[in-house]
Amino acid sequence: MSDDHGTIESLSALAHDAGESYPPSPEFRAQANQNSSEIYLRAAADPEAYWAEQAQNRLTWKKPFTEVLDWTNPPFAKWFADGELNVAENCLDRHVANGHGDRVAIHFEGEPGDTRTITYAELTHEVKRAANMLASLGVTAGDRVAIYMPMIPETVIAMLAVVRLGAAHSVVFGGFSAESLRARIDDVEAELVITADGGYRKGRVSPLKPVVDQALELDDADGKPGTVKHVLVVNRGGNEVNMVDGRDLWWHEEITAYDGEHTAQGFPAENPLFILYTSGTTGKPKGILHTTGGYLTQVTTTFSDVFDIKPESDVFWCTADVGWVTGHSYIVYGPLSNGATQVMYEGTPDTPDWGRWWQLIEKYKVSIFYTAPTAIRSCMKVGRQVPEQYDLSSLRLLGSVGEPINPEAWRWYRDVIGAAKAPIVDTWWQTETGAMMVAPLPGLTSLKPGSSQIAQPGISIAVVDDDGNPVENGQGGLLVVERPWPSMVRNVWGDPQRFIDTYWDKFGDKYFAGDGARLDEDGDIWFLGRVDDVMNVSGHRLSTTEIESALVGHHAVAEAAVVGADDETTGQAVVAFVILKSQQHLITEAEAEQELRSHVASHIGAIARPRNVYVVNELPKTRSGKIMRRLLKDAAEGRKIGDTTTLADTMVMQLISDRVVAEREAK
Ligand code: PRX
Repeated sequence: MSDDHGTIESLSALAHDAGESYPPSPEFRAQANQNSSEIYLRAAADPEAYWAEQAQNRLTWKKPFTEVLDWTNPPFAKWFADGELNVAENCLDRHVANGHGDRVAIHFEGEPGDTRTITYAELTHEVKRAANMLASLGVTAGDRVAIYMPMIPETVIAMLAVVRLGAAHSVVFGGFSAESLRARIDDVEAELVITADGGYRKGRVSPLKPVVDQALELDDADGKPGTVKHVLVVNRGGNEVNMVDGRDLWWHEEITAYDGEHTAQGFPAENPLFILYTSGTTGKPKGILHTTGGYLTQVTTTFSDVFDIKPESDVFWCTADVGWVTGHSYIVYGPLSNGATQVMYEGTPDTPDWGRWWQLIEKYKVSIFYTAPTAIRSCMKVGRQVPEQYDLSSLRLLGSVGEPINPEAWRWYRDVIGAAKAPIVDTWWQTETGAMMVAPLPGLTSLKPGSSQIAQPGISIAVVDDDGNPVENGQGGLLVVERPWPSMVRNVWGDPQRFIDTYWDKFGDKYFAGDGARLDEDGDIWFLGRVDDVMNVSGHRLSTTEIESALVGHHAVAEAAVVGADDETTGQAVVAFVILKSQQHLITEAEAEQELRSHVASHIGAIARPRNVYVVNELPKTRSGKIMRRLLKDAAEGRKIGDTTTLADTMVMQLISDRVVAEREAK
């Protein structure tokens, strides 16, 4: 944790009034999956017994487990280690066997308006065929397969086919650059990449296969040869692609050779399920490893209880992309393991216009809707007159994820989208936690706008001071998880030391989440943002260091410092300060700024594109040479510059702040 990024005290000042609260209506409570608070007591009394019961009751095991938690080698946990299961069978075959084959699993809506309705029987059939196809391409248990896809059903089919074979997937969000993709492919040593020609985004086809080609053409890192033998390409965008002979195969051509007979084999509960990369405090993204039994247990339980899902009647819709953990847990594994029906939408909320989401809710009678505060704030800006044109009366529960939701957005969401009655579950979790950790149970919790409130049953959360002592109600501190939980990150792929250093070094056997939080007078949890060098832009995690390294990788840049500045819509925005190399006086500042914004986008991905790049002559540094990002953040947010006494040169900040103000006024 860096100490120049804002202290817990200053974060605490952001906390809101905890007085306002919305208890569940008697009708909601009466029908809720969890409507007795006894569940919290029972789970707290014996968390392992609670999770063992969930694992037994909610999942189908090929071989029952006898051990629940093995924590003899912390921080490396094992859950249900001697049990065996097949994740794909849990998400598919068992629902068909239980007579639900005709239930719709996915209502797919493409951005151009094309639709597909896929039942559980059909999805099972397609996954079996795909598993046969992947097996004949050489995929076996223990392998890793990279997936770089748009939001289409084949993405889900590909993921489930991989895990059906006991292999692990590493899904790379389709917005990431060739370089980011290649780094991830190399890190997991994937021999197969599954992609599409392209996908629809904002009214046009955004190419994917060409990015895979570029990624595979990049120089081999560290002299290690690339591992990819095959690229399997789904035909979605109809864009021109180059197929490399012997390496590249069209999915639709290959699949015709395979039928839908495939028996799911059981694999140990600690078999890797997926590796998903997330930004950390250093330049290199971390490969977060999740395994099968514990992950599926907690994802299945939280999906059912927090969203109060009735699989026979609800229609769920999570607007995330499958390339993020929210998509993994609450588009793929949670909904399918529960046998729920969901909407999957390929495009953006503003295509062709801002009515698109509401039109889909009306069309598919969505009853449970899960999105991010940044999207809600964008919709608020557009105005309530847009959603008011649609019949949203099917909605009975709303969810929020990815960043703190400000009370104003919470109230708008409930009033305008939820007809002033739908409960909102504000769910806090992380790529590392795998599943929800802190969230209301909608039949039990009196909701407070802006607070995630309470740990899930069987999860022990605390807010502690820097020495690890629990803080009193009314105080702020650092969020920790006190006991291992089933869906916890098992390791950083290939780097156990980094796993220990990042999460366990600070507090020993307590997991350090990197989030600041405050307990209100009732002991409810209010999240206050990250306390490390991680930014949260539109609910996506970005590392300041990673963007700084991309910037200094540009030939014109001598030094760079990046901060996450408050942004009305995206929560935070990337703001960069750069010093150009002396011989760069030939390009104008405006040109440099433009060029550097694109440079970051092409090196990491469009999500990392800085909102502002300021060319400056100096960066504020302490006498020991440490960049004081806290001061840059003050400037970027238009605040009075904080204490500059530790700066080597106190004038530097004045110049920077003048520069930022001048630009703001010029706009
Ligand atoms: O800072 C927290 C914030 O998002 C971080 C995790 O990001 P990621 O791994 O990308 O996963 C996002 C989706 C689960 C956390 O450390 N965060 C996530 N949900 C919330 C949140 N902050 C406040 N309230 C939330 N509900």
